[in-house]
Amino acid sequence: MRIYLDNAATTPLRPEVIEAMTRCMHEHFGNPSSIHADGRTVRAAIETARKTVAKHLHASIGEIFFTSGGTESNNMAIKCAVRDLGVRRIISSPLEHHCVLHSLDNVEQQGVKIDLLNVDGRGRIDYGQLEEMLQSGNGTKTLVSLMHANNEIGTLNDMERISLICEKYGAYYHSDTVQTMAHFPIDVSTIKIHFLSGGAHKFHGPKGCGFIYINHGAMLKPYIDGGSQERNMRGGTENIYGIVGLARAFELACENMEQYRQYIEELRSYFMAQLQENFEDIQFNGDFDGNYLYTVLSVSFPPSSKSELLLLQLDIAGISASGGSACSSGAEAGSHVLQAIGADPGRKTIRFSFSYNNTKAEIDLVINKLREILPLELEVGGKFI
Ligand SMILES: Cc1ncc(COP(=O)(O)O)c(C=O)c1O
Repeated sequence: MRIYLDNAATTPLRPEVIEAMTRCMHEHFGNPSSIHADGRTVRAAIETARKTVAKHLHASIGEIFFTSGGTESNNMAIKCAVRDLGVRRIISSPLEHHCVLHSLDNVEQQGVKIDLLNVDGRGRIDYGQLEEMLQSGNGTKTLVSLMHANNEIGTLNDMERISLICEKYGAYYHSDTVQTMAHFPIDVSTIKIHFLSGGAHKFHGPKGCGFIYINHGAMLKPYIDGGSQERNMRGGTENIYGIVGLARAFELACENMEQYRQYIEELRSYFMAQLQENFEDIQFNGDFDGNYLYTVLSVSFPPSSKSELLLLQLDIAGISASGGSACSSGAEAGSHVLQAIGADPGRKTIRFSFSYNNTKAEIDLVINKLREILPLELEVGGKFI
Protein backbone atom coordinates (compact mmCIF):
# COMPACT_ATOMS: atom_id res chain seq x y z
CA MET A 1 0.00 0.00 0.00
CA ARG A 2 1.39 3.38 -0.96
CA ILE A 3 1.37 6.32 1.42
CA TYR A 4 -0.22 9.36 -0.16
CA LEU A 5 1.04 12.66 1.22
CA ASP A 6 0.30 14.88 -1.77
CA ASN A 7 -3.23 16.02 -0.94
CA ALA A 8 -2.53 19.62 -1.96
CA ALA A 9 -2.01 18.35 -5.51
CA THR A 10 -5.20 16.38 -5.45
CA THR A 11 -7.24 14.26 -3.06
CA PRO A 12 -8.67 10.79 -3.56
CA LEU A 13 -12.40 10.63 -4.26
CA ARG A 14 -14.37 9.64 -1.21
CA PRO A 15 -16.63 6.57 -1.53
CA GLU A 16 -19.79 8.61 -0.91
CA VAL A 17 -18.84 10.85 -3.84
CA ILE A 18 -18.24 7.89 -6.15
CA GLU A 19 -21.58 6.51 -5.02
CA ALA A 20 -23.44 9.76 -5.78
CA MET A 21 -21.75 10.11 -9.16
CA THR A 22 -22.26 6.53 -10.29
CA ARG A 23 -25.89 6.55 -9.17
CA CYS A 24 -26.41 9.63 -11.31
CA MET A 25 -24.58 7.97 -14.23
CA HIS A 26 -26.75 4.88 -13.98
CA GLU A 27 -30.02 6.73 -13.59
CA HIS A 28 -29.69 9.98 -15.53
CA PHE A 29 -28.43 10.78 -18.98
CA GLY A 30 -30.71 13.61 -20.07
CA ASN A 31 -29.43 16.94 -21.32
CA PRO A 32 -30.23 19.50 -18.62
CA SER A 33 -31.27 21.97 -21.31
CA SER A 34 -33.98 19.63 -22.65
CA ILE A 35 -37.44 20.57 -21.51
CA HIS A 36 -38.74 16.99 -21.26
CA ALA A 37 -38.72 14.97 -18.05
CA ASP A 38 -35.28 13.38 -18.71
CA GLY A 39 -33.76 16.82 -19.02
CA ARG A 40 -35.67 18.34 -16.14
CA THR A 41 -34.47 15.66 -13.72
CA VAL A 42 -30.85 16.45 -14.54
CA ARG A 43 -31.49 20.19 -14.38
CA ALA A 44 -32.94 19.66 -10.89
CA ALA A 45 -29.79 17.76 -9.84
CA ILE A 46 -27.62 20.69 -10.94
CA GLU A 47 -29.77 23.20 -9.09
CA THR A 48 -29.71 21.06 -5.95
CA ALA A 49 -25.90 20.98 -6.19
CA ARG A 50 -25.82 24.77 -6.58
CA LYS A 51 -28.00 25.15 -3.52
CA THR A 52 -25.64 22.96 -1.48
CA VAL A 53 -22.58 25.02 -2.39
CA ALA A 54 -24.42 28.32 -1.83
CA LYS A 55 -25.70 27.20 1.57
CA HIS A 56 -22.27 26.39 2.97
CA LEU A 57 -20.79 29.68 1.72
CA HIS A 58 -23.85 31.69 2.86
CA ALA A 59 -24.17 32.93 -0.70
CA SER A 60 -27.29 33.15 -2.80
CA ILE A 61 -27.77 30.48 -5.46
CA GLY A 62 -27.54 33.12 -8.19
CA GLU A 63 -23.93 33.77 -7.16
CA ILE A 64 -22.56 30.23 -7.76
CA PHE A 65 -21.51 29.07 -11.23
CA PHE A 66 -19.98 25.69 -12.03
CA THR A 67 -16.78 25.67 -14.07
CA SER A 68 -14.08 23.18 -15.08
CA GLY A 69 -12.06 23.92 -11.94
CA GLY A 70 -9.89 26.41 -10.10
CA THR A 71 -7.90 27.44 -13.17
CA GLU A 72 -10.97 28.45 -15.16
CA SER A 73 -12.54 30.23 -12.20
CA ASN A 74 -9.39 32.28 -11.58
CA ASN A 75 -9.00 33.10 -15.29
CA MET A 76 -12.63 34.19 -15.39
CA ALA A 77 -12.46 36.41 -12.32
CA ILE A 78 -9.38 38.27 -13.52
CA LYS A 79 -10.01 38.53 -17.24
CA CYS A 80 -13.74 39.28 -16.95
CA ALA A 81 -13.21 41.86 -14.19
CA VAL A 82 -11.01 43.72 -16.67
CA ARG A 83 -13.41 43.24 -19.59
CA ASP A 84 -16.72 43.79 -17.79
CA LEU A 85 -16.05 45.97 -14.75
CA GLY A 86 -13.53 48.43 -16.14
CA VAL A 87 -10.65 47.27 -13.91
CA ARG A 88 -7.43 48.97 -15.03
CA ARG A 89 -5.12 47.99 -12.21
CA ILE A 90 -4.58 44.72 -10.32
CA ILE A 91 -2.71 44.32 -7.05
CA SER A 92 -1.51 40.78 -6.40
CA SER A 93 1.50 38.87 -5.09
CA PRO A 94 4.41 36.93 -6.58
CA LEU A 95 3.28 33.82 -4.67
CA GLU A 96 0.05 33.29 -6.59
CA HIS A 97 -0.63 30.11 -8.55
CA HIS A 98 0.46 30.16 -12.19
CA CYS A 99 -3.16 30.32 -13.37
CA VAL A 100 -3.42 33.71 -11.63
CA LEU A 101 0.07 34.96 -12.57
CA HIS A 102 -0.38 34.02 -16.23
CA SER A 103 -3.83 35.64 -16.30
CA LEU A 104 -2.16 38.78 -14.95
CA ASP A 105 0.42 38.61 -17.77
CA ASN A 106 -2.47 38.34 -20.22
CA VAL A 107 -4.34 41.44 -19.00
CA GLU A 108 -1.08 43.37 -18.62
CA GLN A 109 -0.72 43.06 -22.39
CA GLN A 110 -4.08 44.83 -22.67
CA GLY A 111 -2.65 47.78 -20.73
CA VAL A 112 -3.77 46.85 -17.20
CA LYS A 113 -1.25 47.94 -14.57
CA ILE A 114 -0.05 45.06 -12.40
CA ASP A 115 1.46 45.75 -8.97
CA LEU A 116 2.86 42.88 -6.91
CA LEU A 117 3.13 43.22 -3.13
CA ASN A 118 6.33 42.46 -1.25
CA VAL A 119 6.40 39.20 0.69
CA ASP A 120 8.63 38.30 3.62
CA GLY A 121 10.62 35.11 4.23
CA ARG A 122 7.52 33.32 5.47
CA GLY A 123 5.44 34.32 2.44
CA ARG A 124 3.41 36.93 4.33
CA ILE A 125 2.18 39.91 2.37
CA ASP A 126 2.66 43.50 3.55
CA TYR A 127 -0.84 44.76 4.46
CA GLY A 128 0.45 48.31 4.97
CA GLN A 129 1.82 48.30 1.44
CA LEU A 130 -1.53 47.08 0.12
CA GLU A 131 -3.23 50.02 1.78
CA GLU A 132 -0.63 52.47 0.49
CA MET A 133 -1.00 51.14 -3.05
CA LEU A 134 -4.78 51.48 -2.92
CA GLN A 135 -4.51 54.96 -1.42
CA SER A 136 -2.31 56.10 -4.30
CA GLY A 137 -4.71 54.71 -6.91
CA ASN A 138 -6.20 58.08 -7.95
CA GLY A 139 -9.59 56.55 -8.62
CA THR A 140 -8.30 53.85 -10.99
CA LYS A 141 -10.68 50.87 -10.83
CA THR A 142 -8.67 48.24 -9.02
CA LEU A 143 -8.93 44.51 -8.41
CA VAL A 144 -7.01 42.96 -5.52
CA SER A 145 -6.25 39.31 -6.28
CA LEU A 146 -4.67 37.50 -3.34
CA MET A 147 -4.90 33.78 -2.68
CA HIS A 148 -6.26 32.57 0.64
CA ALA A 149 -3.55 29.94 1.20
CA ASN A 150 -0.43 29.27 -0.75
CA ASN A 151 -0.39 25.78 -2.25
CA GLU A 152 3.36 25.23 -1.84
CA ILE A 153 4.19 26.61 1.59
CA GLY A 154 0.73 26.93 3.16
CA THR A 155 0.96 30.57 4.28
CA LEU A 156 -2.52 32.00 4.81
CA ASN A 157 -3.54 35.53 3.94
CA ASP A 158 -6.00 37.24 6.26
CA MET A 159 -9.11 37.38 4.09
CA GLU A 160 -11.09 39.54 6.47
CA ARG A 161 -8.31 42.12 6.80
CA ILE A 162 -7.85 42.30 3.05
CA SER A 163 -11.60 42.63 2.51
CA LEU A 164 -11.80 45.56 4.91
CA ILE A 165 -8.92 47.33 3.18
CA CYS A 166 -10.51 46.73 -0.23
CA GLU A 167 -13.87 48.01 1.00
CA LYS A 168 -12.26 51.16 2.40
CA TYR A 169 -10.79 52.04 -1.01
CA GLY A 170 -13.63 50.70 -3.18
CA ALA A 171 -11.52 47.95 -4.78
CA TYR A 172 -12.84 44.63 -6.04
CA TYR A 173 -11.47 41.62 -4.17
CA HIS A 174 -10.78 38.19 -5.68
CA SER A 175 -9.31 35.32 -3.71
CA ASP A 176 -8.00 32.06 -5.11
CA THR A 177 -9.48 29.80 -2.44
CA VAL A 178 -8.71 26.56 -4.23
CA GLN A 179 -6.62 25.22 -1.33
CA THR A 180 -8.92 26.36 1.48
CA MET A 181 -12.38 25.82 0.04
CA ALA A 182 -14.17 23.27 2.29
CA HIS A 183 -11.12 23.21 4.60
CA PHE A 184 -11.81 26.56 6.30
CA PRO A 185 -15.20 28.14 6.91
CA ILE A 186 -15.85 30.88 4.37
CA ASP A 187 -18.90 33.06 4.90
CA VAL A 188 -19.57 35.61 2.19
CA SER A 189 -22.37 37.17 4.23
CA THR A 190 -19.78 38.49 6.71
CA ILE A 191 -16.69 38.94 4.50
CA LYS A 192 -17.04 41.38 1.66
CA ILE A 193 -15.49 39.61 -1.28
CA HIS A 194 -16.40 39.70 -4.95
CA PHE A 195 -14.91 36.50 -6.41
CA LEU A 196 -13.89 33.13 -4.98
CA SER A 197 -12.67 29.99 -6.75
CA GLY A 198 -13.07 26.33 -5.88
CA GLY A 199 -11.92 23.05 -7.41
CA ALA A 200 -13.66 19.82 -6.38
CA HIS A 201 -10.56 17.62 -6.53
CA LYS A 202 -8.97 19.45 -3.59
CA PHE A 203 -11.76 18.34 -1.27
CA HIS A 204 -12.18 14.69 -2.31
CA GLY A 205 -14.41 15.46 -5.28
CA PRO A 206 -13.82 14.79 -8.99
CA LYS A 207 -11.19 16.45 -11.17
CA GLY A 208 -12.24 18.81 -13.93
CA CYS A 209 -15.08 20.42 -12.01
CA GLY A 210 -15.13 23.54 -9.87
CA PHE A 211 -17.06 26.72 -9.30
CA ILE A 212 -16.77 30.46 -9.05
CA TYR A 213 -18.60 32.63 -6.56
CA ILE A 214 -19.47 36.00 -8.06
CA ASN A 215 -20.96 38.58 -5.73
CA HIS A 216 -24.22 40.15 -6.94
CA GLY A 217 -22.54 43.55 -6.83
CA ALA A 218 -19.86 42.55 -9.35
CA MET A 219 -21.69 40.40 -11.89
CA LEU A 220 -19.60 39.40 -14.90
CA LYS A 221 -20.47 38.33 -18.41
CA PRO A 222 -19.73 34.79 -19.71
CA TYR A 223 -16.12 33.72 -20.04
CA ILE A 224 -17.12 30.82 -22.31
CA ASP A 225 -19.65 31.82 -24.95
CA GLY A 226 -22.32 29.42 -26.08
CA GLY A 227 -25.77 28.41 -24.94
CA SER A 228 -27.67 29.64 -21.96
CA GLN A 229 -26.28 27.08 -19.52
CA GLU A 230 -25.24 28.10 -16.01
CA ARG A 231 -27.88 30.81 -15.91
CA ASN A 232 -26.42 32.33 -19.10
CA MET A 233 -22.93 32.49 -17.59
CA ARG A 234 -21.12 29.54 -19.15
CA GLY A 235 -21.96 27.96 -22.49
CA GLY A 236 -21.65 24.21 -22.96
CA THR A 237 -23.55 21.16 -21.73
CA GLU A 238 -22.86 20.89 -18.03
CA ASN A 239 -20.48 18.34 -16.47
CA ILE A 240 -23.42 16.91 -14.62
CA TYR A 241 -21.63 13.97 -12.96
CA GLY A 242 -18.82 16.24 -11.87
CA ILE A 243 -21.27 18.76 -10.45
CA VAL A 244 -23.15 16.09 -8.51
CA GLY A 245 -19.84 14.74 -7.14
CA LEU A 246 -18.59 18.23 -6.30
CA ALA A 247 -21.69 19.02 -4.26
CA ARG A 248 -21.57 15.73 -2.34
CA ALA A 249 -17.86 16.21 -1.57
CA PHE A 250 -18.41 19.83 -0.55
CA GLU A 251 -21.27 18.93 1.75
CA LEU A 252 -19.33 16.15 3.48
CA ALA A 253 -16.17 18.26 3.84
CA CYS A 254 -18.09 21.22 5.28
CA GLU A 255 -20.15 19.11 7.67
CA ASN A 256 -17.03 17.39 9.07
CA MET A 257 -14.67 20.34 8.77
CA GLU A 258 -13.84 20.88 12.45
CA GLN A 259 -13.30 17.20 13.13
CA TYR A 260 -11.00 16.78 10.10
CA ARG A 261 -9.16 19.95 10.94
CA GLN A 262 -8.33 18.82 14.47
CA TYR A 263 -7.25 15.40 13.25
CA ILE A 264 -5.03 16.74 10.47
CA GLU A 265 -3.53 19.46 12.72
CA GLU A 266 -2.50 16.75 15.16
CA LEU A 267 -0.96 14.64 12.43
CA ARG A 268 0.97 17.60 11.08
CA SER A 269 2.31 18.55 14.54
CA TYR A 270 3.34 14.95 15.13
CA PHE A 271 5.18 14.86 11.80
CA MET A 272 6.97 18.13 12.59
CA ALA A 273 8.05 16.85 16.00
CA GLN A 274 9.28 13.55 14.53
CA LEU A 275 11.23 15.31 11.81
CA GLN A 276 12.93 17.57 14.36
CA GLU A 277 13.72 14.67 16.62
CA ASN A 278 15.18 12.47 13.92
CA PHE A 279 17.05 14.88 11.67
CA GLU A 280 19.52 17.70 12.13
CA ASP A 281 18.95 21.12 10.63
CA ILE A 282 15.41 20.65 9.34
CA GLN A 283 13.65 23.84 8.23
CA PHE A 284 9.95 24.41 7.69
CA ASN A 285 8.85 26.90 5.05
CA GLY A 286 6.06 29.44 5.14
CA ASP A 287 4.24 30.73 8.21
CA PHE A 288 4.32 27.17 9.55
CA ASP A 289 3.55 27.99 13.20
CA GLY A 290 1.59 31.21 12.62
CA ASN A 291 -1.15 31.62 10.05
CA TYR A 292 -0.98 28.43 8.02
CA LEU A 293 -2.96 25.94 5.98
CA TYR A 294 -3.09 22.85 8.20
CA THR A 295 -3.05 20.38 5.31
CA VAL A 296 0.40 21.51 4.09
CA LEU A 297 3.91 21.14 5.51
CA SER A 298 6.83 22.32 3.41
CA VAL A 299 10.12 20.87 4.68
CA SER A 300 13.63 21.85 3.62
CA PHE A 301 16.32 19.25 4.19
CA PRO A 302 19.96 20.32 4.47
CA PRO A 303 22.14 19.91 1.40
CA SER A 304 23.60 16.43 1.14
CA SER A 305 24.53 13.88 -1.49
CA LYS A 306 21.43 11.88 -0.50
CA SER A 307 18.84 14.62 -0.44
CA GLU A 308 19.22 15.42 -4.13
CA LEU A 309 17.08 12.47 -5.25
CA LEU A 310 14.92 12.43 -2.14
CA LEU A 311 11.58 12.83 -3.88
CA LEU A 312 12.36 10.05 -6.33
CA GLN A 313 13.58 7.76 -3.57
CA LEU A 314 10.43 8.40 -1.55
CA ASP A 315 8.40 7.55 -4.62
CA ILE A 316 10.31 4.28 -5.11
CA ALA A 317 9.69 3.53 -1.43
CA GLY A 318 5.93 3.94 -2.01
CA ILE A 319 5.52 7.46 -0.65
CA SER A 320 3.92 10.19 -2.76
CA ALA A 321 4.90 13.75 -1.91
CA SER A 322 5.79 16.74 -3.98
CA GLY A 323 8.75 19.02 -4.67
CA GLY A 324 7.39 22.54 -4.58
CA SER A 325 4.06 22.70 -6.38
CA ALA A 326 2.76 19.54 -8.03
CA CYS A 327 0.48 21.36 -10.40
CA SER A 328 3.12 21.82 -13.05
CA SER A 329 5.66 19.35 -11.76
CA GLY A 330 6.61 15.86 -12.79
CA ALA A 331 10.06 16.81 -13.79
CA GLU A 332 10.95 19.18 -11.00
CA ALA A 333 10.98 22.75 -12.16
CA GLY A 334 12.22 25.52 -9.90
CA SER A 335 9.53 26.94 -7.68
CA HIS A 336 8.64 30.62 -8.11
CA VAL A 337 7.24 30.56 -4.57
CA LEU A 338 10.41 29.28 -2.88
CA GLN A 339 12.40 31.74 -4.95
CA ALA A 340 10.16 34.68 -3.94
CA ILE A 341 10.54 33.94 -0.21
CA GLY A 342 14.31 33.68 -0.61
CA ALA A 343 14.56 29.98 0.25
CA ASP A 344 18.06 28.49 0.09
CA PRO A 345 18.29 26.83 -3.36
CA GLY A 346 20.91 24.42 -2.01
CA ARG A 347 18.40 22.75 0.29
CA LYS A 348 15.97 20.10 -0.85
CA THR A 349 12.35 21.09 -0.31
CA ILE A 350 9.56 18.54 -0.10
CA ARG A 351 5.90 19.44 0.34
CA PHE A 352 3.99 16.91 2.39
CA SER A 353 0.25 17.44 2.40
CA PHE A 354 -2.33 15.59 4.42
CA SER A 355 -5.95 14.51 4.49
CA TYR A 356 -8.20 12.75 6.97
CA ASN A 357 -7.17 9.48 5.29
CA ASN A 358 -3.62 9.67 6.66
CA THR A 359 -2.57 8.09 9.94
CA LYS A 360 0.20 8.36 12.55
CA ALA A 361 1.35 4.87 11.53
CA GLU A 362 1.94 6.25 8.03
CA ILE A 363 3.93 9.16 9.44
CA ASP A 364 6.11 6.68 11.39
CA LEU A 365 6.75 4.73 8.21
CA VAL A 366 7.70 7.91 6.34
CA ILE A 367 10.11 8.90 9.12
CA ASN A 368 11.70 5.42 9.04
CA LYS A 369 12.04 5.59 5.30
CA LEU A 370 13.61 9.05 5.49
CA ARG A 371 16.07 7.71 8.06
CA GLU A 372 17.07 4.97 5.62
CA ILE A 373 17.44 7.39 2.73
CA LEU A 374 19.18 10.12 4.69
CA PRO A 375 21.73 8.44 6.96
CA LEU A 376 23.82 10.76 9.08
CA GLU A 377 26.60 12.15 6.99
CA LEU A 378 29.83 13.83 7.92
CA GLU A 379 30.98 16.78 5.96
CA VAL A 380 34.75 16.68 5.50
CA GLY A 381 36.42 19.46 3.61
CA GLY A 382 33.21 20.37 1.83
CA LYS A 383 32.59 16.75 0.77
CA PHE A 384 30.11 14.35 2.25
CA ILE A 385 31.39 10.97 3.31
C1 LIG B 1 -3.86 27.65 -5.23
C2 LIG B 1 -4.32 26.96 -6.47
N1 LIG B 1 -5.01 27.65 -7.39
C3 LIG B 1 -5.46 27.07 -8.51
C4 LIG B 1 -5.22 25.74 -8.77
C5 LIG B 1 -5.76 25.14 -10.04
O1 LIG B 1 -6.92 24.41 -9.76
P1 LIG B 1 -7.48 23.29 -10.80
O2 LIG B 1 -6.52 22.15 -10.74
O3 LIG B 1 -8.84 22.94 -10.24
O4 LIG B 1 -7.56 23.93 -12.12
C6 LIG B 1 -4.48 24.98 -7.85
C7 LIG B 1 -4.15 23.57 -8.14
O5 LIG B 1 -3.25 23.01 -7.58
C8 LIG B 1 -4.03 25.59 -6.66
O6 LIG B 1 -3.36 24.93 -5.74
